[in-house]
Amino acid sequence: MSPIDQENSSSTFSGSHGEGTKALGGKVYISTYGCQMNVNDSERMMTLLEMMNYSPALSPDQADLIIVNSCSIREKPVHKVHSEVGRYRVLKKKNPHLKIGVSGCVAQQEKSKLMKDVPLIDFVFGTDAIDELPEIISQATQGEKVVRAKFEHQRPYHIETMVRNPGVSTFVNITKGCDNFCTFCVVPFTRGRERSRPMVQILDDINRLVDRGVKEVTLVGQNVNSYTSDCGAGFGDLMKSVAQKTGIERIRFTTPHPKDFNKELMEIMQENRDKVMDYIHLPLQSGNSEVLERMNRGYTREQYIELAHMILKTMPGSVLSTDIIVGFPGETREQFEDTLSLLDEVPFESIYAFAYSPRPFTKAARFEEQLTDSEKNLRLRELFEKHNTLSFAMAKKYVGQSLKVLVEEYHDGEQKAGRCFGRSTQNKSVHFDGGPELVGKTVDVIIDQAFPSTLYGTLREGI
Ligand code: SAH
Ligand code: SF4
Ligand code: F3S
Repeated sequence: MSPIDQENSSSTFSGSHGEGTKALGGKVYISTYGCQMNVNDSERMMTLLEMMNYSPALSPDQADLIIVNSCSIREKPVHKVHSEVGRYRVLKKKNPHLKIGVSGCVAQQEKSKLMKDVPLIDFVFGTDAIDELPEIISQATQGEKVVRAKFEHQRPYHIETMVRNPGVSTFVNITKGCDNFCTFCVVPFTRGRERSRPMVQILDDINRLVDRGVKEVTLVGQNVNSYTSDCGAGFGDLMKSVAQKTGIERIRFTTPHPKDFNKELMEIMQENRDKVMDYIHLPLQSGNSEVLERMNRGYTREQYIELAHMILKTMPGSVLSTDIIVGFPGETREQFEDTLSLLDEVPFESIYAFAYSPRPFTKAARFEEQLTDSEKNLRLRELFEKHNTLSFAMAKKYVGQSLKVLVEEYHDGEQKAGRCFGRSTQNKSVHFDGGPELVGKTVDVIIDQAFPSTLYGTLREGI
C-alpha cells in the first residue's frame, strides 16, 4: 500500500462519452488520496461517470462535479481533505450548480457528520457505495443532500475491474476490507470485513486487460495473502493461476501480511519467477516483539527476521521494502532501538515510515502513554537517517548491472527529451535514453548511476 500512500493525484480520462442515461453530465474532477484501493476506486467512479456523460475537467475550476476520494490512515491526509474541500467554497460561489462530494475512507468514517461539519458538501458516499454513484449523482444534481455509507458485509464481492486507459501496468483488486484489527489501524472500520473476489473473475479481468495491451498487473488488497476464493483457493493458488493461465507478462502484489506469508507461497513465487516480480513489500511496523504484540500484528521480531531471510534464500536476488510506525503508544527508547537495529538484520532497499497517529475507533488511540509529537518526529528522523546511509550503499550494487525494464513512459518534452521511464523487476524506477516505440516493451538497461529509489542507465541495443 505504501508506495503511493499519502500522495494525492487527480484522475483525468480521455475517450468517447458513453450513451448517457439522463441529461446529466458535464465536467468532473476527482482528487484521489491514499492507497491503491482508492486509486482503483477513482478509476471505477470515472468509468461510471463516463457512462453518465461526464468528461474530465483538467482543473477543479472547470468542473460541474468534484469528488474528493479521501484517506483516513493518519491525521494529516484527513486534514488535507478538509482543506481541499474548503478551497472549493469560492468555486461554488462562482458556479452555484457545482456539486461537491466526498468518498473514500473519511466519508465512510464520518458519514453524515462530515456534511454537518462542512455544509459545502453535497454528497458523501462510503467505500461500499461506489456502484450506487449514478443514483447518488442524479439525486445530488436535483438538489438533494445525499449520504450513502452503509457496509454491505454479506454481499459477495463480485466486481469487474473498470479501468478506462489501463496503459502498460495496472491494479487489479483481489480482496476488499480487513479483519486483522491491528490496534493502530482504521482500515477495518473504513473498509469493512474482508471479502475475496472469485478467482475466475480475476483471471477473466486479467485476460481482458492483456487484450487491451496491459503487460503488468499488481494484485491489490489490504492483506492479499489471506485471499481465499469461494472455491477455497488461497493466494498461492491465485498467483500460480495468474502466472500460468493468463497472458500477463509481469505480476506484482501489495500488501502481503507477514503472518500469512508461508514457505509454499515463496516456492510458488520462485517457480514462476519469469512472471512474478522479485520485489516484496513486507510491512514490519516495529522491530520490538512487545510493541508488535500490542499492535496485534501476529508475529515477533524473531519470526519476522526469519521470514525475511527465508524469502531471500528461497527467492535469491529478491528485494524487500517495508512500512514502519515509530512512537506507538508506550514505545520506549529501547524498543525504538530494536526497530533501528532490525535494519541491520534485514536489507530493506526502501522503507515507508510514519509517526504514529491516533485514529478513531482504534484500540491504540485509547492506550495510555501517548508520545509527544516532537518525540515521535525525532525518532522518525533518526530512522530515516539510519536507513538513508544503508540505502545509498545498497543502491550502489546496481551500477554496471543489466536490468530487465518494462518501459511505461516516454517523455518527449524539452527537458526530458528522449527519456524513457520504466521499472525493473525489483521495482526500481529506471530512466534511460530511448524512443517512444519502446513503451510496453521489456528491455535490458545497463545501470550507470544509482540512487536509492531511482536508477539511470543505457539501453543495451541489439538484444
Ligand atoms: N495492510 C497493510 C498496510 C495498511 S496501511 C499492512 O498490514 O501492513 C499502510 C501503512 O500505514 C501501514 O503499514 C502503517 O505503517 C501505516 N499506518 C497505518 N495506521 C497508522 C497510524 N495510525 N499511524 C501511523 N501510521 C499508520
Ligand atoms: Fe490495517 Fe493491519 Fe489490516 Fe493492514 S492488516 S489494513 S495494518 S488492520
Ligand atoms: Fe487510506 Fe483507506 Fe487506503 S484509509 S490508505 S484510502 S484503505
